[in-house]
Amino acid sequence: GAASKGEYRHYMLKEIFEQPKVIEAALEGRMSASSVLVESFGPDAQALFQKTRQVHIIACGTSYHAGLVARYWLERYAGVPVQVEVASEYRYRHPVVPEGTLFVTLSQSGETADTLAALRFAKTLGYVGTLAICNVPGSSLVRESDMSLMTRAGPEIGVASTKAFTTQLIALLLLTLSVSKAKGQPEQPEILAGLQALPSLCQQVLGLDAQIEALSQAFAEKHHALFLGRGAHYPIALEGALKLKEISYIHAEAYPAGELKHGPLALVDSEMPVISVAPNDELLEKLKSNLQEVRARGGQLFVFADRKVGISAQEDIRVLELPEVHEALAPLLYTLPLQLLSYHVAVLKGTDVDQPRNLAKSVTVE
Ligand code: AGP
Repeated sequence: GAASKGEYRHYMLKEIFEQPKVIEAALEGRMSASSVLVESFGPDAQALFQKTRQVHIIACGTSYHAGLVARYWLERYAGVPVQVEVASEYRYRHPVVPEGTLFVTLSQSGETADTLAALRFAKTLGYVGTLAICNVPGSSLVRESDMSLMTRAGPEIGVASTKAFTTQLIALLLLTLSVSKAKGQPEQPEILAGLQALPSLCQQVLGLDAQIEALSQAFAEKHHALFLGRGAHYPIALEGALKLKEISYIHAEAYPAGELKHGPLALVDSEMPVISVAPNDELLEKLKSNLQEVRARGGQLFVFADRKVGISAQEDIRVLELPEVHEALAPLLYTLPLQLLSYHVAVLKGTDVDQPRNLAKSVTVE
């Protein structure tokens, strides 16, 4: 059944490997090769998105990281300004809400206390509407929002969120395309085609598991790790660092690579593993020069990169090559190897992968 580990050693591993299937489920009936179905977000979605002039996204933890990725998408592909904030901060601010602002919450459980409180607060602030992107139908967040879209990841048992995150990203890309369409902008067939091809690309990346497991050995004895990314891959670096912290208890930090020389470079020496997400995008050349800064200080680089980018393995650089993917979809694909890396490091360290210390699956108290 859904709550059994089957052939897998941990729920987390099972949930990582379920991603091709649940991504397909999250897309099912919500788009075709040429068009996104705006009504997936409910009968009022078309009218509401048409009126939407900006978006506020509120969430916690991993769900917050999904929101950070969505900011790049909504701004670039729908032309809508976006603010993203963690719920525990938002709920105690005095937010100024411009006319035509859509309020979006992201949550696996739909019961996270801070996110729910943020929604209740937002309803007093004059938003044009509220949308919950959630994995649990009938949860408080879904019941109390004007509109909802289910992520269809199925039950997620591991405390470290994996498939809930990637299906949130799918929902957020569908939101981006839907807002764009409702505003009368042309459809984006390349992204739609990329979405259809994504489950099989994810399957290919999961096929790299043995290579990722081999890389993980370099981390087992480390106390710190630095994750770097740029653009929409900065939030992916944040998510990679959160996963490593949660289940392996290694202190990990993520930085936008361009910020390195403003401080964290001081931490880099031959003991510091630096993990970098390097898809083939417009920021690649800048990222490459950031990586040179790390090498020059003797840092050990682990680069997850597109085959085409021409970063080759050397004594101080280990490279894991990923298949080519449309730029918009890269954040989804590059999440998978980082999940697997944390998983294998945690297994090597012998931690309780599915139930890490001090953490609860759903944080229903403030
Ligand atoms: C993810 O690995 C964490 N365990 C945690 O950050 C989680 O994403 C956060 O508590 C939010 O939960 P939610 O998505 O159920 O609201």
